[in-house]
Amino acid sequence: MYRTHTNGELRLPDAGKEVCLCGWVQRSRDLGGMTFVDLRDRYGITQIVFNMETDADLCAKARTLGREFVIQVKGIVAERSNKNLKIPTGEIEILAKEINILNPAKTPPFTIEDHSDGGDELRMKYRYLDLRRDCVRKNLELRHRLSIEIRKYMDAQGFMEIETPFLVKSTPEGARDFVVPSRMNPGEFYALPQSPQQYKQLLMVAGMDRYFQIVRCFRDEDLRADRQPEFTQLDCEMAFVEQEDVLQTFEGLIRHLFRVEKGIELPPLPRMSWQTAMDKYGSDKPDIRFGMEFTALKDVFPQGKFSIFDQSEWIGGICVPGAAEYTRKQLDELTEFVKRPQVGATGLIYIKCNADGSFKSSIDKFFGAEELKAVAQACQAKAGDLILIMAGKAAKTKTALGVLRLEMGNRLGLRDPFNYKVLWVVDFPLLEWDEEAGRFFAMHHPFTAPKPEDDALLETDPGKVRANAYDMVINGVEVGGGSIRIHDKSLQARMFKALGFSDEEAQAQFGFLMNAFEFGAPPHGGLAFGFDRLCALFGGADSIRDYIAFPKNNAGRDTMSESPSPISEAQLKELCIKVNL
Ligand code: AMO
Repeated sequence: MYRTHTNGELRLPDAGKEVCLCGWVQRSRDLGGMTFVDLRDRYGITQIVFNMETDADLCAKARTLGREFVIQVKGIVAERSNKNLKIPTGEIEILAKEINILNPAKTPPFTIEDHSDGGDELRMKYRYLDLRRDCVRKNLELRHRLSIEIRKYMDAQGFMEIETPFLVKSTPEGARDFVVPSRMNPGEFYALPQSPQQYKQLLMVAGMDRYFQIVRCFRDEDLRADRQPEFTQLDCEMAFVEQEDVLQTFEGLIRHLFRVEKGIELPPLPRMSWQTAMDKYGSDKPDIRFGMEFTALKDVFPQGKFSIFDQSEWIGGICVPGAAEYTRKQLDELTEFVKRPQVGATGLIYIKCNADGSFKSSIDKFFGAEELKAVAQACQAKAGDLILIMAGKAAKTKTALGVLRLEMGNRLGLRDPFNYKVLWVVDFPLLEWDEEAGRFFAMHHPFTAPKPEDDALLETDPGKVRANAYDMVINGVEVGGGSIRIHDKSLQARMFKALGFSDEEAQAQFGFLMNAFEFGAPPHGGLAFGFDRLCALFGGADSIRDYIAFPKNNAGRDTMSESPSPISEAQLKELCIKVNL
C-alpha cells in the first residue's frame, strides 16, 4: 500500500497515529535543526517535519528534496505548536520516520501556486503542471460536480444518454467544419460534428422520446474567451413537446444546478423577446444585472437642427448614473473605445446633467437647454448623471451602444460575476438576411419551426417570421439555445425554399433526415447548453479555457503537444491528398 491517507485528510484527533503519505514537494524549508516539507496532492497539503536531532541521516536526505519531487513519507501525526488555521490540516504535522523518493523532478518552469510566476503561454505548454495548481484543479472539480448533477437531474426526468457519431457528413450550413479524410474512400471526407443536431432528431424518429448527451462538438471558427474549437455541449431533445415544455424542463435543470452547487434559489426565469432585447440592450444576450437600458431618442430631438441626427435611422441613449463628473479625457477615451473597429461606431455624443440642474453637452451648438432637458427626462436622468448617445443605422448602432453599455457596466463595477441573473430570450427571427450571399440563412438552423401565427409570412415577408427558438442567457452570456423543430415535410420544403435551396440541394445535404421524417417523425424540440460556458459562469470567470483540462490557444493550437502539425508524405499519399501551399 503506497499510502494510508491523503494530504488533505488528517486532523488533530488523528494525533499519535502512524501514517504513510505520498505526494509532491510543494516547498521545503531548512531551518538548521529542522527541515519542513509541504507535501501536496489533489486533496490538500500536509506539513512534514524532519528533525536533525532525532535522525540526522533522514534530515540530510530531506534536504536533497527539490520542488515537485514525488515522495512517500512514513511518520507519526503530531499536534503543531505553530498552527496554520488557513488550511484544514494546519493543526497537525507528520514527524517523519522514513522517506522514500519515488521520483525526482526537474525544477518546474514556473511556481506551482495560485499566484504563479508563469505567464499564460508557459503554463499552457506545461499544462499538466498548471493543472497541479489548486485554483485550476478546483475548476475541473467544479466541472465534474456539475456533470454529475446534470446526469442525476436528466436521469430523474427520464432522459436517456445516447452517444452519436464523431465522424459525420459535412454540411455547409452553420460554422466551418473540421474535416477528416477517409483513407478507404479516396477523395472523400467526414466532418467532425458541430453538434449532434441531426442525430438527435433521428433519435426522436427512433422513438427514444427523451435524449441527452454530454458531448464534444467541433467548430472551425474564430476563437474568443468563450469559444474553443472543440467544446462540450449538454445536448438534449424531447418528443411530443411544445416550447413551453422544453423551457420548463431546462429551467428546472438550471434551478437544480444553482441550488446544489451554489445554494441559490433562482426566481422563475424572466422571458424577453429577441426584439425587446435588441431594442433595450442592443444584444440578443442581454446582461440584466444592471439597468442603463436604451431610450429611443429619434422622436425626442427636434428635426432640422443637427444633420447627423436628421440622417440617422435610429438615435438612442443610455443614462449612466453618477457619471456627470466624467472629465474631457475620460469622455475622449470612451469615444475612442466606441470607434475601435470591434465596436464600429462613428462617434459618441454626451449630455452631462450637472448637479445645479444645468446641462453641458457635445451638441450644445445645436440644441438649447430646454431640448436637452427633454432628452434627460426621456432618459429618466437625474442631476449628476451622464447621457451617452449614438446615432446611425438602427441595427448597427444598437449593437454598438450595447457594447458601450457593457463597458460602462464594467467601469461602474455593476457586473459582479457572482450576482447571477438568468433569463430566456424567446421569439428569435427565423431567418437572417446575408448581404454578401444575397440570401436568407436560418438564424438557428434549417429545422427550426416558425411560430404558427407567423407561418403565412414565410412566402410573403420571410424576414418577419419569428421562430419557436429560445436562448438561455446568464449574466450576458448565451449558455444555451434550441428550438422546436419542423417535423412536417411540406413545411420543411417551404423552409428550404425560403433559404434558396433547390429540391436537389436540400436532398443532397439533408436527405437522410428528410427521408427519415417520412417514417413517422413525432413533434419534437430541444436545446443544447454550452457546458464549458456553464462551468465558467459557475466559477465566476469569463474565459472557458480554465475549465477545460487541455484547451487550445487563441490560434487554435495545442502548444503542449504542438498540434496541429504537418503529416508525413506517406500519410498524405495514403489519404490521396496533395498539399500545395
Ligand atoms: P448552438 O450553436 O447555439 O446550438 O450551441 C449551443 C451552445 O453551445 C455553446 N457554444 C460554444 N461553446 C464554446 N465554444 C464554442 N465554439 C461554442 N459554440 C457554441 C453556446 C451555445 O449556446 N444544435 C443546436 C442546439 C439545438 O437546437 O438543440 C446548437 O448547437 O453556449
